[in-house]
Amino acid sequence: MEFNIIDKTPLWNTLSELGKRIFLPDGIFYWSGRAKKEAEIIGTIGSAFGYERDFIDGGSDEWLPCYLKTIKEYSSLDVRSIVPYASIGGLSDIREIWKKWIVKKSGYDDKKKIELLEKSITKPIVTQGITNGIFLCCAFLLNPGEIIISPNKRWGNYDNIITKFLGVNIKSFDFFKDQKLNVQGLKEAIKEVANKQDKIIVILNFPNNPTGYVPTKTEGRELVDALKETQKDINKPIVVLADDAYEPYVYSDEVIEKSIFYDLIELDEDIIPIKLDGISKELLAYGGRIGFVTIGLKPKWVGSEEDLDTLKAEINNKLEGINRSTISNANHFYQAVTQKMFEEVGMDNILKEREKIRALLQSRYKKINKELENLGNPDISVDPNAGGFFLFVNLNPNKMKASEFADHLLKKYKVGVIPIEKPQNNINGIRIAYCSIDIEKIPEIVRRISSALNDF
Ligand SMILES: Cc1ncc(COP(=O)(O)O)c(C=O)c1O
Repeated sequence: MEFNIIDKTPLWNTLSELGKRIFLPDGIFYWSGRAKKEAEIIGTIGSAFGYERDFIDGGSDEWLPCYLKTIKEYSSLDVRSIVPYASIGGLSDIREIWKKWIVKKSGYDDKKKIELLEKSITKPIVTQGITNGIFLCCAFLLNPGEIIISPNKRWGNYDNIITKFLGVNIKSFDFFKDQKLNVQGLKEAIKEVANKQDKIIVILNFPNNPTGYVPTKTEGRELVDALKETQKDINKPIVVLADDAYEPYVYSDEVIEKSIFYDLIELDEDIIPIKLDGISKELLAYGGRIGFVTIGLKPKWVGSEEDLDTLKAEINNKLEGINRSTISNANHFYQAVTQKMFEEVGMDNILKEREKIRALLQSRYKKINKELENLGNPDISVDPNAGGFFLFVNLNPNKMKASEFADHLLKKYKVGVIPIEKPQNNINGIRIAYCSIDIEKIPEIVRRISSALNDF
């Protein structure tokens, strides 16, 4: 593939050496594609095929991927949806469906807005869960030694992927100031990093793990305005990785009801949002390991619709190049299941089914926040939260270390929570995963936390 467009867009300046270098060679795919169209006998596919009767007692005359009979006992799906490799970027149909799902999640009903969104986003590429999507994006964008910006309260696995695995540095900023999103802290972090490198990469996650934080509508606007202003000031492209793992789990009317990806895509500035979402939490299929990476482009970068399509194809080729050299391709079975759900059940019914679970979590969210508030304990403070699966209780660092408190809570009160203790990032507290605690048990867990605080 030739790359004639991408290197003339601001996206190019945000890529790592790997991102610039990687591509998916034609190789096997070129010859397989040609063989499908031109050959009489195909000897290109590297998986075993045969007439079903030749490998299954009583099998049909169909030419199928060879499979073990017992596999059929575990799924009623056609073996062609289970056994073969999926395509490198994901099954074409599920990629199209997920693109429509992203449009649906925008909540837009204005035709023009929908058209612009459809035009501006790449076809989602399928990864092995969002974790793999985060890895893919960070490898695509950042060289070892470069810097990504992230709030101090973040999913712990970012540090594994970004720092330990990729050798990239994380510039942390305090997520909250006076119980509000610390927009000023983000601005300062961007300006500081802009003095050192020619691109800014930020990763944001709402609803957040570990805090459950979702920006209020005002904070959301302030965040978008701050990114706009700062981009103008520094005059360098800003990529925002929107980790939308918990996107649908929002429990308050006061907070933004959709991903910031949608606001960022509409900006004229060179702010490039990348959406990371997937079935793990959204469709409650954690083990399915299906995630999606979707890049928001600015149509103004290119001169014509045709060039925009070429740009999308070039980006797709590069991302497929990363998939090919890491995971090769993602779980076929779960792509097929997801596709079937969308095709046979439909988006609206999926939303209806899921609403019960969202409402269940919302009732726990209300209960646990109320119970913690009622404690009125000056040694703890709960971070603002309005969504997701967790909340975060800050502990007075002068009185207790989070890990020691968690140990005491577990040993004496038989309550398990995750302590997060990073003094260098001003963090000392416990994450409570209320997503997995029955509402009836919430008063009891809070009572035990209170007792543990009193006799620590
Ligand atoms: C913020 C956040 N992002 C991403 C993930 C990973 O999602 P997946 O299971 O799809 O890899 C998680 C899972 O805990 C998470 O909390």
